[in-house]
Amino acid sequence: MSGSSLPPVTEIGPRDAASQAAFCDYVPQVFQRASFHLWRAWGGWNEDYRAFAVVEDGRVLANVSVTRMRLLLEGREATGFQFGAVGCLPSHRGRGLARAVMEAALDFCGEAPVLLFANPTVLEFYPRFGFTPWRQELFTAPHEAVPGGAPAPTLDLSDAGVRAGLAALSEEGLPVTERFGARGYSSISTWYAANGFSRPLRRLKEDAWAFAGVEGDTLYLDDVFTRGLFDLRAWIPRLIDRPIRRIQFGFTPERWWPEATAAGEDTKADLFVRRLSLSREPHRFPVLAHT
Ligand SMILES: CC(C)(COP(=O)(O)OP(=O)(O)OC[C@H]1O[C@@H](n2cnc3c(N)ncnc32)[C@H](O)[C@@H]1OP(=O)(O)O)[C@@H](O)C(=O)NCCC(=O)NCCS
Repeated sequence: MSGSSLPPVTEIGPRDAASQAAFCDYVPQVFQRASFHLWRAWGGWNEDYRAFAVVEDGRVLANVSVTRMRLLLEGREATGFQFGAVGCLPSHRGRGLARAVMEAALDFCGEAPVLLFANPTVLEFYPRFGFTPWRQELFTAPHEAVPGGAPAPTLDLSDAGVRAGLAALSEEGLPVTERFGARGYSSISTWYAANGFSRPLRRLKEDAWAFAGVEGDTLYLDDVFTRGLFDLRAWIPRLIDRPIRRIQFGFTPERWWPEATAAGEDTKADLFVRRLSLSREPHRFPVLAHT
């Protein structure tokens, strides 16, 4: 399809309730397991989130969602954007609709860096729009521990007060990694919780919360939201309900576990970047900041 015959693209922002509802209806038609209904009801659609969609008769046919991100690149903060929910209804593919929404979203981003996490079916799609793949690493550390002390309480993100607390820690607190990370992405993490995809959120201290859970003999420590440094190691026995032998991190643990090792590529990440130059040191963008 030539550029001149591309269909019009609608920008859906935080106050466009009817179009948001159409977007929410579109998502499960393309991504079977994902839903935006509860996340939206929880106030997740904030000023940083907008969707670029081809809408016909009130139906979203194709979409690219754009989240404004406060990226951290080797300790330096930069405004960037993350794409998500990129797709087209199966009945309307091959007509240039995804191209139309990709181009509108990229126009919106201008010269700013853009990143996205793809999937194996679209590895040849994003390079058509100037994106290049970038390796993500898995980090693990051997660590033997047994449960001890009072278990860290589990926090419920369906509680608006808990969501507000997470937002404050995420915006004002210590980023979990500065090699390649972000600040202020609690509304993204909350999406995982709203869909039942996140590990439990545990309260270590008033101002230190962690998404973590044990599987087999491994503690998966997905993220840490805190106002300041604390002795994370001392809290491990209160995060586990059975003995563990190792920890896997959902982020680059240069701050929280410097002796953790890069254990191989995160083959499930499929990160693509545009106008973004990342650390040559191994890194993992926080898993609960992926859209
Ligand atoms: C990938 C997807 C969005 C493409 O939608 P579409 O409307 O059929 O795409 P378009 O017709 O606009 O095609 C745009 C261009 O990409 C190409 N293309 C389309 N699908 C592609 C794919 N899977 N891999 C590589 N190239 C692809 C087209 O040939 C076209 O090329 P051109 O414009 O340079 O000639 C659609 O197949 C989809 O929704 N897939 C499932 C959801 C998904 O996996 N989304 C990605 C999430 S990260």
